[in-house]
Amino acid sequence: MVKKLRIGLLFGGRSAEHEISLISARSIYQNLDSKKYSVTLIGISQDGRWYLQDDAKVLLGTKGMALKQFSPRGGELSVKPAPMSGKNLAVAGAKAGATPRIDVVFPVLHGPYGEDGTAQGLLELAGLPYVGADVLGSAVGMDKEVAKRLLRDAGLFVAGFRVLTRHEHGKSRSLAGKLAREVGYPLFVKPSRMGSSVGVSRVVAPGKLTGAIKKAFRFDDKLLLEKEIKGREIECAILGGDTPRASLIGEVIPGQDGFYSYRAKYVDESGVELVIPARLSAKQLSGAQQTALKAFCALNCYGMARVDMFLTGRGRIFVNELNTIPGFTSISMYPKLWELSGLPFPKLLDELIRLAIQRHKRKAKLRISR
Ligand SMILES: Nc1ncnc2c1ncn2[C@@H]1O[C@H](COP(=O)(O)OP(=O)(O)O)[C@@H](O)[C@H]1O
Ligand SMILES: [Mg+2]
Repeated sequence: MVKKLRIGLLFGGRSAEHEISLISARSIYQNLDSKKYSVTLIGISQDGRWYLQDDAKVLLGTKGMALKQFSPRGGELSVKPAPMSGKNLAVAGAKAGATPRIDVVFPVLHGPYGEDGTAQGLLELAGLPYVGADVLGSAVGMDKEVAKRLLRDAGLFVAGFRVLTRHEHGKSRSLAGKLAREVGYPLFVKPSRMGSSVGVSRVVAPGKLTGAIKKAFRFDDKLLLEKEIKGREIECAILGGDTPRASLIGEVIPGQDGFYSYRAKYVDESGVELVIPARLSAKQLSGAQQTALKAFCALNCYGMARVDMFLTGRGRIFVNELNTIPGFTSISMYPKLWELSGLPFPKLLDELIRLAIQRHKRKAKLRISR
């Protein structure tokens, strides 16, 4: 019998996108081929505690707000190097003997403390292969300001923006209004390092600016005031390492909120229509794919990313953002686009795991450490 690869599914986490991570992790868990993999569940609660297997399963099975009341029955994790192998890592349960080995970690953590390079840094330190972008790619992908500068540097179109930090805002209350005038209305106010549209507002007039800024500062110390791009919202899934591939394109058609809001994403599904594949000409399709591939490389991504773009009436493509750990529910754009492009969900996971191992092996050959 072929030995199964031991996958550590890392989910939950401390970010505002905790609940989304649970839904993504659940569908990855269901789609990992049980003939090839044995899965160790590693759940991180909202207060940052790590739980293993049975306790993590409770975490995985709990929906929405109830999670906040979840009280674990022990089995809390300590992460420490395995005694027999410096390369591998044992995720040790509190009880002696409960030390499952892990070959590859699949981080399914959306937002800060997971998608931003923090989890990736821990896994690098532990010497474990893991799925997706590395520390750098994750960190720049998470920070919308840094990402936009790099995309612009790569010759791609991005929406004009201004940055407002809490510090600057505290020093000068008129600064926000000045920056907004420079950008022009309508504009978007957003935390630089968040996701799932948390803290994002569309501001049509100066009177609504203060409220939007206050809301966004709840989630980050740095905000973007961004010019509205009038166009279709399209998304492309990228998969690969040195020679990444682009999927077909999907389209998001927002409803009543006028943009792809948190509510439209997770609360009221009638608030949005997802069209997969998007109705595009051959030229638009290849333009969007080429742009997405360029963006993936510009941000030093690896493995996977969903590239979100705007297609304007004049046929110009703007890159909005990249998600290095995209949503992975069975109806999410990333797995759906690959399915449509001929790669079913379980095969997509196989490929992501293969890429993780390939990068790890390559890095092991570098003369970085003694
Ligand atoms: N510059 C913009 N022009 C038009 N719509 C935008 C702009 N920025 C954001 N949006 C809308 O807001 C949504 C959320 O913004 P986004 O930058 O993608 O943040 P998040 O990382 O939270 O998803 C987008 O999907 C889009 O509908
Ligand atoms: Mg987005």
